[in-house]
Amino acid sequence: MQMAMIGLGRMGGNMVERLMRNGHQTVVYDRSSDVVAKYQKMGATPAKDLADIAAKLKSPRVVWIMVPAGDPTEQTIEALVPSLSRGDIIIDGGNSNFHDTMRRAESLAKRGIEFVDSGTSGGIWGLENGYCLMVGGTDAAVKQCEPIFRALAPENGYAHVGPSGAGHYVKMVHNGIEYALLQGYAEGYEILHASKNFPKLDLHQIAEVWQHGSVVRSWLNELAASAFARDAALSELKGWIADSGEGRWTVQEAIDSDTPAPVITLSLLMRFRSRQADSFGGKVIAALRNEFGGHAVKKS
Ligand SMILES: NC(=O)c1ccc[n+]([C@@H]2O[C@H](COP(=O)([O-])OP(=O)(O)OC[C@H]3O[C@@H](n4cnc5c(N)ncnc54)[C@H](OP(=O)(O)O)[C@@H]3O)[C@@H](O)[C@H]2O)c1
Repeated sequence: MQMAMIGLGRMGGNMVERLMRNGHQTVVYDRSSDVVAKYQKMGATPAKDLADIAAKLKSPRVVWIMVPAGDPTEQTIEALVPSLSRGDIIIDGGNSNFHDTMRRAESLAKRGIEFVDSGTSGGIWGLENGYCLMVGGTDAAVKQCEPIFRALAPENGYAHVGPSGAGHYVKMVHNGIEYALLQGYAEGYEILHASKNFPKLDLHQIAEVWQHGSVVRSWLNELAASAFARDAALSELKGWIADSGEGRWTVQEAIDSDTPAPVITLSLLMRFRSRQADSFGGKVIAALRNEFGGHAVKKS
């Protein structure tokens, strides 16, 4: 089928390529014309702006937005909508907050435009392996977009999980779980790395053997094995970890629903700690221990 993609970054670009490999026609737009030209060479139809996307699509139009969540997604929708008509469908495949998605769906429904949210997982590997898609929206809109979802996902890797917002909600919790899994592997490998009893453990060897029959084998652990194969000490990296929102939102949702989620919560807090060269809280504890017990401190 025919559809448009706005945002040809790491995700959107590969998704266009996978859609074209599966016989779909794509109209592509990115604020960088060089990137648009790259996908034009592969067979996509270039659009020079958002109005041009609408002009190049047959009705009912399907437009997938794959830009950063928050303001970029909001601004893209606002700029696109005047060129769309009743019955058209916007799909937001980014990691938007589900509250924003529910609001956008309600507001667009008043104009007769369907808003479908597709929580998308698979990263840069999705081009070859397919993307796991967690989709929210009305039955009619989701059904209409199904050929796109089936082309992007691996077999059984796409599900319509609920009404508008449900896709991003499920993806949010998915990413919360990801925080906890990453933290679990990080702590285990750090203990191995710091071992005083066995200082020469080969982390690459251990990651590899865990991939065979072990209960902790996983795709993330496979990626750990690849990273350790290149540099077992990860000496070129700093232990500085960003967070893009989904972890915070998952923790907030846990609080709002009185759900104990200590592991995900601490995984988020560890990301904050990773960005501190030193911590004021640590200084406060050192100062107080020194005040009440004369315990030794280290001077900065
Ligand atoms: N990377 C992942 O593993 C992954 C996985 C699942 C979901 N996601 C989600 O997918 C979405 C895209 O991620 P990505 O990894 O593809 O990001 P990316 O590589 O940074 O690409 C983002 C694209 O959006 C464009 N863009 C940025 N700000 C914009 C704005 N204000 N208006 C219009 N276009 C703008 C960028 O253009 P410029 O190049 O000119 O900045 C780029 O083409 C995000 O919502 C992300 O959270 C990412």
